Amino acid sequence: MKSVLITGASSGIGKSLVKRYVADGYQVYAAGRNSHKLVQAFGDHPRITQLVFDVTQLDQIKTIAEQVTELDHLILNAGDCEYMDDILHFDSQLFARVINVNLLSVAYCLEGFLAKVLPFGRVGIVSSSATIVPFPKAQAYGASKAGLDYLARSLSIDLAQHNIGVSLIQPGFVQTPLTDKNDFAMPGRISPQQAANSIFNGMVAGKHLIRFPFLLILSLQVLALLPFSWWRAYISRKTNK
Ligand SMILES: NC(=O)c1ccc[n+]([C@@H]2O[C@H](COP(=O)([O-])OP(=O)(O)OC[C@H]3O[C@@H](n4cnc5c(N)ncnc54)[C@H](OP(=O)(O)O)[C@@H]3O)[C@@H](O)[C@H]2O)c1
Repeated sequence: MKSVLITGASSGIGKSLVKRYVADGYQVYAAGRNSHKLVQAFGDHPRITQLVFDVTQLDQIKTIAEQVTELDHLILNAGDCEYMDDILHFDSQLFARVINVNLLSVAYCLEGFLAKVLPFGRVGIVSSSATIVPFPKAQAYGASKAGLDYLARSLSIDLAQHNIGVSLIQPGFVQTPLTDKNDFAMPGRISPQQAANSIFNGMVAGKHLIRFPFLLILSLQVLALLPFSWWRAYISRKTNK
C-alpha cells in the first residue's frame, strides 16, 4: 500500500489532503501539533496514523520519525501567516516567528523524514502564489515562502540523482482558518477540497510546479511582467483606499 505523510493535517488544506489521499487507498500519516484536533478530524480511521509534534521542534520530529517507515509522498504543508501592520516599527520577533514556522520547520522535517522517502517517491513543499508578486504587509510571510521556492527547486536538482521528485506547491486563496481572518478581498478563493484535488493530482502526475487556481495565477504572472513601479503604485492605491 502506498503511503504519505502530511504536516498541518488538523485543519484547512492539510485536512482535506488527508481525506483525498485516503480516498485513493493510501496509508496516511496525518501530522499535527494538537492531538485533540486530529482525533476530531479523523477519529480512528484504520488507514490514518496520527502523529503529534510541533514542526518547529527538531527533537520531537526526530523521535516521531522512528515510528514512520517508508513514504511514497511527503507533503510539508504546516504553516502560519502574520502580517506586519506597523511597518515603521518593524517587528523582528514576528518576522522570526513566521520564518521559523514556515521555512525552518521544513528544514527540520526534511532532516527527520526525507530519508524515509522511497526512490520514485515525491516531496511536496507548500509555498504560496504570494511569491509571484510582492504584497503589502507580507514581508515575513512572503520572505518565508520565497525561501521555500528556492529550497524546493534546489532540492529538486540534488534529489533527481536519487530518483526522488519535488513539487513546489503555490496555492492561491483557499478558504481555511488561515484566510478567514483576512479583512481584504481574496479573488478566486477556492475550497480546501478543490485545493487538495489540485495538489493530489499534481503530486501523482509528478509535476514540478503545482499552481492554482488558473485565472488567479495567470493574472499574477501578467502583473509580474509589469515594471515593478507600476505594480507598487497599483497595489498601494488598492490597499490605501
Ligand atoms: N489558505 C490559503 O489561502 C493559502 C494560500 C497559500 C498557501 N497556503 C499555505 O498552505 C498551508 C496550509 O494552510 P491552511 O490555509 O490550510 O491553514 P490552516 O487551516 O491554518 O492550517 C495550518 C496547519 O498548520 C499547522 N501548524 C501551524 N503551526 C504549526 C506548528 N508549529 N507545528 C505543527 N503544525 C503547525 C496547524 O495546526 P493547528 O491546527 O494546531 O493550528 C494547521 O494544521 C500553509 O503553509 C499556508 O501558508 C495557504
